[in-house]
Amino acid sequence: MTNQAPVIEIRNLHKSYGELEVLKGVDITAPAGHVVSLIGSSGSGKSTLLRCANLLEDSQQGDVLFCGEPVTWKGTGANRQPGDHAQMIRIRTNLSMVFQQFNLWSHMTILQNVMEAPVTVLKRDKAEVEASARKYLDKVGIGDKCDAFPAQLSGGQQQRAAIARALCMEPKALLFDEPTSALDPELEQEVVKVIKDLATEGRTMLIVTHDMRLAADVSDHVVFLHQGKIAEEGPPNTLFGQPKTDRLRGFLSATVS
Ligand SMILES: Nc1ncnc2c1ncn2[C@@H]1O[C@H](COP(=O)(O)OP(=O)(O)OP(=O)(O)O)[C@@H](O)[C@H]1O
Ligand SMILES: [Mg+2]
Repeated sequence: MTNQAPVIEIRNLHKSYGELEVLKGVDITAPAGHVVSLIGSSGSGKSTLLRCANLLEDSQQGDVLFCGEPVTWKGTGANRQPGDHAQMIRIRTNLSMVFQQFNLWSHMTILQNVMEAPVTVLKRDKAEVEASARKYLDKVGIGDKCDAFPAQLSGGQQQRAAIARALCMEPKALLFDEPTSALDPELEQEVVKVIKDLATEGRTMLIVTHDMRLAADVSDHVVFLHQGKIAEEGPPNTLFGQPKTDRLRGFLSATVS
């Protein structure tokens, strides 16, 4: 187990939108069972990096590896894209995303939302998917909301449904993009608790967050991104306790209330 390849490995990744270079050579590794958090100012490239990791965005240079398997590219530079469609789908379905705005289907019940991708994308047996969907909804504390529609749930409940939906894909890792930013403080705590439980279980997670307490509590490793580059990284105690760079010190003093 200890020699297992990391679930996600990104090496020297470069990404531009037209003339705007957003990622300028970034390396990130998420070993199996580890939680890596990405922090940094608005516009520093955190969401872009997550989206490049699960191939929702193309990148122009550098490598992305999933469980040791390098992504096959076709073309170069601005024309580069994943060259193997089956590999791309496999990676995407194994790195389930949870977004700030939940992105639940409003016309489907919570249970249907959680079952949708495993049944239609992964072609799993419907009865088995239903059983595991109910299990994950129980796990995040909303097993009684199976037949409700998203609009009938609080923000915290909707985000927990989105986490159950990600879990029901049985992914190798979960990618969170600001999972608590749209929530009121007390609802935020419900979601933080679920994320902490997942970390305790040994789930591999890559978490973009503005919540420094969450990053400090759940992470094995924290990466501070500044203008498309890693400005500082390390274990949370060191990064938050003894920041080395003025940039990180400035960011933390502006962020921590
Ligand atoms: N689809 C796009 N087209 C053009 N530019 C984009 C696109 N998406 C992001 N950008 C730009 O890339 C830069 C990085 O954006 P990104 O969303 O990755 O930042 P972020 O660190 O996630 O910020 P935030 O904390 O506000 O979510 C920003 O300057 C943004 O304007
Ligand atoms: Mg973002």
